[in-house]
Amino acid sequence: MEPILEVRNITKRFGGLVAVDNVDMKVYPGEVVGLLGDNGAGKSTLIKMVSGVYRADAGKVFFGGKEVKIDNPMQALRMGLETIYQDLALAENLDVYSNIFLGREKLKRFLGLVNVLDHGHMLAESRKVLNRLDIEVPSLRNRIRTLSGGQRQAVAISRAIYWNAKFIIMDEPTAALGVAEQKKVLGLVRTLSSQGVGIIIISHQLLDVFSVATRLVIMRRGKKVAERITAETSMDEVVGLIVGSVPGDLANANGESPKPSAVGPVMTTSSRSRPHQETTRRRPSPSGH
Ligand SMILES: Nc1ncnc2c1ncn2[C@@H]1O[C@H](COP(=O)(O)OP(=O)(O)OP(=O)(O)O)[C@@H](O)[C@H]1O
Ligand SMILES: [Mg+2]
Repeated sequence: MEPILEVRNITKRFGGLVAVDNVDMKVYPGEVVGLLGDNGAGKSTLIKMVSGVYRADAGKVFFGGKEVKIDNPMQALRMGLETIYQDLALAENLDVYSNIFLGREKLKRFLGLVNVLDHGHMLAESRKVLNRLDIEVPSLRNRIRTLSGGQRQAVAISRAIYWNAKFIIMDEPTAALGVAEQKKVLGLVRTLSSQGVGIIIISHQLLDVFSVATRLVIMRRGKKVAERITAETSMDEVVGLIVGSVPGDLANANGESPKPSAVGPVMTTSSRSRPHQETTRRRPSPSGH
């Protein structure tokens, strides 16, 4: 089987800073890959080069086996590559079904003269996709801003599904969710993967990532330092790779030395009082993703 998505030697610089440094990554159809790293490791920048937000300074992107140049987010969407951000990408003041059809509204002829929005069609189709994914929202006519974080996430996922996304990137999908909502979103990730959709999930919630991802890619300071099969590693090893106390596969090439003291503030054991909140996050991301 060939990868649905592959990036080769991809690099992004911001002035003198190399935010993503020569990274390779592959995702196969139906595979869920966890993209991990501390704040500022380069995760969001990496996926933004795939979703058309940034143009790479070097490297190649392949989608469905073909090399692609993705110059803007609309182009990524048209290819079937959706990116979902917590609380972003939905229009707060529009209702649920209008968000599902945002930018791709269905029109009908009125009195054979003018084109008007076909609300009936959009409502019915939206209802179908929400039902298919077993998603409950109070009403499809509710504005997005009246929904909870998890319900918004579910609407964003529904939109991706309705438009036949072949690949979904989720940047911190569970960061602001309650426990039940986190479970729901993770359940949707599993459903999608069983339908053959390739998924990259970025999260500081290691328990979440370990529960859905079969493979993990770990970045540190712009570099991919390791790749692990989830079943063959442990949270302790992954935390060590994230913070640099475990050298990683590129350590010698980078000339880095292990920093054992860096493990201190990171929670690694499930004996803490709120294990579902296990996280490597030490400060909130200023950008929110
Ligand atoms: N638009 C930008 N202009 C300049 N520097 C940027 C820009 N976006 C990101 N950076 C820098 O690039 C590096 C990687 O940032 P990125 O947002 O990719 O990290 P991240 O791994 O997603 O972190 P987090 O977990 O905090 O979201 C950081 O040092 C960041 O300050
Ligand atoms: Mg980020």
